[in-house]
Amino acid sequence: MIAVEGVVKRFGAQTVLDGVSLAVAPGEVVTILGSSGSGKSTLIRCINGLERLDGGRITVDGLDVADPRQLAQARRLSATVFQLFNLYPHMTVLRNVTLAPEVVLKRPRAEVEAEAQALLASVGLAGKADAYPAQLSGGQRQRVGICRALAMNPRYLLLDEVTSALDPEMTAEVLAILGRLAGRQMGDGGTTMLFVTHEVEFARRISTRIVFLDQGRLIVDLPTARFFADDGGLAHPRIRQFLSKMAPSNTVAGAEVTV
Ligand SMILES: Nc1ncnc2c1ncn2[C@@H]1O[C@H](COP(=O)(O)OP(=O)(O)OP(=O)(O)O)[C@@H](O)[C@H]1O
Ligand SMILES: [Mg+2]
Repeated sequence: MIAVEGVVKRFGAQTVLDGVSLAVAPGEVVTILGSSGSGKSTLIRCINGLERLDGGRITVDGLDVADPRQLAQARRLSATVFQLFNLYPHMTVLRNVTLAPEVVLKRPRAEVEAEAQALLASVGLAGKADAYPAQLSGGQRQRVGICRALAMNPRYLLLDEVTSALDPEMTAEVLAILGRLAGRQMGDGGTTMLFVTHEVEFARRISTRIVFLDQGRLIVDLPTARFFADDGGLAHPRIRQFLSKMAPSNTVAGAEVTV
């Protein structure tokens, strides 16, 4: 599992994560909600070992991400998709997906390509394998980004606002795919998801648990139904205020999500 224990992260004088603890067990789909600037992306970057911690500890299946050797191993267990499509522009869609499994995992090209083709087909991009990122729409690019992460066959999938740069139609497209993934995973011990999003309605449908970050503090960590209960998460004024600002533009009416 991913275990975040009492993590403190400062940027200069600003404490961005203030004693955050969070555990994500296999099979869980955990959503992190919180206002802009509350520390969500920083937390994801800390789990990836992209930031040095000022306190506390993070382990992925027992591997301490503060230790470079253990971090290298931990990075094989998790894959991250960020808000902005960071595909390699000079490589085809197929190559973007196959590069890491081939180079990092040293798997044979033919095998990796067959898997990549299947992954692309599963997100409706069978015909785009030979296209370049610039020839794709934003939603298509983000779907390639998800395939690229899944091609590493990660135990943990971290997603940081993967739809926030997309228009509503493309958002629906990408969320439908994530919903399918989450549904497939629930309970079967497959890829576990830690998900940062502003799509509250979507989070409500796919998450097993929701946590709320407020100014660097994790103030609530509850099973999804409890989070939205009047005497659960909604009993917190900050969460009530946050949710009232979200609705209804962040509900995705068009996304058909099968869980
Ligand atoms: N590299 C950095 N240097 C200095 N300050 C930073 C850095 N990265 C983040 N911060 C600050 O840390 C705070 C938390 O940022 P973070 O990106 O984690 O927020 P967030 O919850 O992801 O917000 P959003 O919803 O807007 O993406 C912000 O005040 C931000 O300005
Ligand atoms: Mg962010």
